[in-house]
Amino acid sequence: MKRAAVIGLGDISSIHIMAIDKNPEITLAAVCDIDGTAREHAPKDVPFYTDFREMIEREKPDAVHICLPHYLHVPVSEEAAGRGVHVFCEKPVALNTQEAEAFAAFEASHPEIHMGICLQNRYNESVEMLKGLIDSGEYGQVTGTRGIVPWAREKSYYDVKPWRGKWETAGGGCMINQSVHTLDLLYHLGGPVTAVKASVSQLLDYGIEVEDTVSARLTYANGARGLFLATNANYRNESVQISVQMEKAEFSIIDNVLYRLNSDGGRERLVEDEKLPGTKFYYGASHGKLINQFYREIETGGSDYIHVSDAVMSIRLIDAIQKSGRSGETVQVIPE
Ligand SMILES: NC(=O)c1ccc[n+]([C@@H]2O[C@H](COP(=O)([O-])OP(=O)(O)OC[C@H]3O[C@@H](n4cnc5c(N)ncnc54)[C@H](O)[C@@H]3O)[C@@H](O)[C@H]2O)c1
Repeated sequence: MKRAAVIGLGDISSIHIMAIDKNPEITLAAVCDIDGTAREHAPKDVPFYTDFREMIEREKPDAVHICLPHYLHVPVSEEAAGRGVHVFCEKPVALNTQEAEAFAAFEASHPEIHMGICLQNRYNESVEMLKGLIDSGEYGQVTGTRGIVPWAREKSYYDVKPWRGKWETAGGGCMINQSVHTLDLLYHLGGPVTAVKASVSQLLDYGIEVEDTVSARLTYANGARGLFLATNANYRNESVQISVQMEKAEFSIIDNVLYRLNSDGGRERLVEDEKLPGTKFYYGASHGKLINQFYREIETGGSDYIHVSDAVMSIRLIDAIQKSGRSGETVQVIPE
């Protein structure tokens, strides 16, 4: 039985607590939030702390789940890992490329500690099947990708948690916070991206610092073209759409269903993502799958989960898109 602890009891923490609760091999040993009122978001019989260091010292968890504002991901992860605790950290892996690369170097220098990053959509059934189809080689090379994230965030989303609208604490807006998953998948499915050209803007008049809308053209190492569109300015949250064109076939994930697109305009349904009752449909339902996998790998000493190093490319892409948005120029992406 592994002992888990959750640091940060805000919006996402309930999904982690639910996944821990459902896994008979893990017990929730303790929870922590600097805000004492947040204890009501965790089961009453679980010890609550306001200081994560004290919690680790007293409760000796095997792993901590980091559900904190972005600027705390790396320092708290490294401090927990330094105390011998495995770390499962929410996305994004870091605020920027420099911090992400330093975190990946830290991971490499601590091989005894598992550090997993919660880019759970890689574990959606639709994405797993599409990745398998691409890797099989049956359909030839990827020639094009498209990712669309048509989401909506009210002003209150930023007013209630001001860290979300600030560069210093969030590291950006709709890319690093909402559509980092989709950028990660465009890389996971399409391969290395070498250059981007982008437009980065604010369509919402919320008075926040960070972007709410982005369009970007991606150039892949093999010459394939990608298009990425993301916004928080839609009138409602709609499912993310991801399309991949290959030499011999085209596939799209629409409303959490993977389709093969036929040349006559029809489409063949291949697989549908599992739905997780009680969670937002547009998050993806794979938090639990990834968390279970992470703990299995802790138990067996395996390494099949999403590492810090796996998540660095999503931050390199975001930084390159931001830079292109500022300069109006095509920007090279740092290679893997
Ligand atoms: N994987 C996903 O699909 C997904 C979805 C939503 C959010 N997230 C991520 O989850 C993380 C948290 O987001 P959220 O929306 O739940 O944020 P939130 O603001 O609702 O919650 C953060 C919590 O951390 C607490 N906190 C701040 N500093 C602390 C400290 N030093 N020690 C202990 N607690 C502290 C705050 O009091 C707050 O309760 C972010 O990284 C976000 O990007 C991931």
